Formats: sequence, structure tokens, C-alpha cells
Amino acid sequence: MDGNGRWATRRGLPRAAGHSAGARAVRRIVEAAPGLGIGQLTLFAFSADNWKRPPDEVAALMRLFARYLRSETPRLVANGVRLEVVGRRDRLPALLGVAIDAAEQATAGNETLFLRLLVDYSGRAAIQAGLLLPDVDLLIRTGGEQRLSDFLLWECAYAELHFSDRYWPDFGPADLAAAIGEFRRRQRRFGGLPETAAG
Ligand code: IPE
Ligand code: MG
Repeated sequence: MDGNGRWATRRGLPRAAGHSAGARAVRRIVEAAPGLGIGQLTLFAFSADNWKRPPDEVAALMRLFARYLRSETPRLVANGVRLEVVGRRDRLPALLGVAIDAAEQATAGNETLFLRLLVDYSGRAAIQAGLLLPDVDLLIRTGGEQRLSDFLLWECAYAELHFSDRYWPDFGPADLAAAIGEFRRRQRRFGGLPETAAG
């Protein structure tokens, strides 16, 4: 989820307004995902390197995460979304930790969509600690940059990559549907040969 800050700056708004708009985009994407055949969705919300940002932006993001978890939990439950937050917990504000625990517990029994939120996450650190998630099929990065930025490095070994110039707050269900459509047309070989050539 990249481009919140630029989305806001382009509108003459503070960066925090971009993050709030980004949270609204999360709701739209999460609610559209199951209808597009997605069973697992992992969102990179805050990387271990994002602590380098100005303290007021970091604080605004932490408040937003806690507010999002509290206000969205009923909708997540209603939509059958199971939420798991992945990343270091020990550097997060205590109140955010409480909100994470509550949201995870409230959604633990849901099965329509497995939503993972990466918060204070580092792909390299996860590999060193052996904390690995399921393989990624499709990686979508918004905001125009074409890099991984310490996202699920191990899990993306054979991920299909999709880069969108849209800022995250503008990335909607139609964009997700288009990315999935393109993904389905790709031929994944995992180092092997095309099926027609193999036999
Ligand atoms: C959101 O976009 C990513 C987060 C860390 C929440 P950015 O905040 O990176 O937005 P840009 O890249 O400055 O536009
Ligand atoms: Mg960015």
C-alpha cells in the first residue's frame, strides 16, 4: 500500500489525511477480494524501516491502525474475514497491541478471507527468525515504485509482480480485478517447462 502521502500532498492535505484515505481503500479492497476469488490477502501497512519517519506521522499511523481495528472489527466479522497482524509487537503502543489482540480474537473463527496486516514487519528479519508465511501468488505494489522494500522476501520467490501507478487511496476493486485478470493470463512455470512442452 504505497502512495498515501503523495495522494494527500497532491490535494494540499496533510499526509495523515492520505493515510486515512488509505484505510478507506483497505475497506473497499477487503470487501471486494472474496468476490474476485481471493482467499488470502496480505497488506503491508508499516515496515520496520517506517520508524525512520517523523514522529508525528508515525504516531498518526499508530492511532489510525488502532482506530481501524476497533471500528472495522464488526464489519470484518460480518464479512467472514479472519484478521492476523504480523510483525514485531514490542515496539507498538500498548493500546494498539490491545486492539490487535481484540480484533484477532473476534475474527479468529472466520473463513471467507484470511487478511494479514503487516505492521512493524521486515522480510529479512522474518527469514532470520524463521517466521514464514504461505507463498505469495501475486504481489501488487501501488504508487509507481518498482521494488519490494523488504516485503515478504522469502514468500515472493515465485510471485507474479504487478506494479500500479495509482496511489493506494485511488486503488479500487476495478484495479484489483484487472490485476487478477492479468495474473490469470500469465503462465507460471516455477522453473519447469510449459505444460504443453513437458509431456
Ligand atoms: C503508505 O504510503 C505507506 C505507509 C507506510 C503507510 P506512503 O506513506 O509511503 O506514501 P508516499 O509514498 O509518501 O506517497
Ligand atoms: Mg511510500
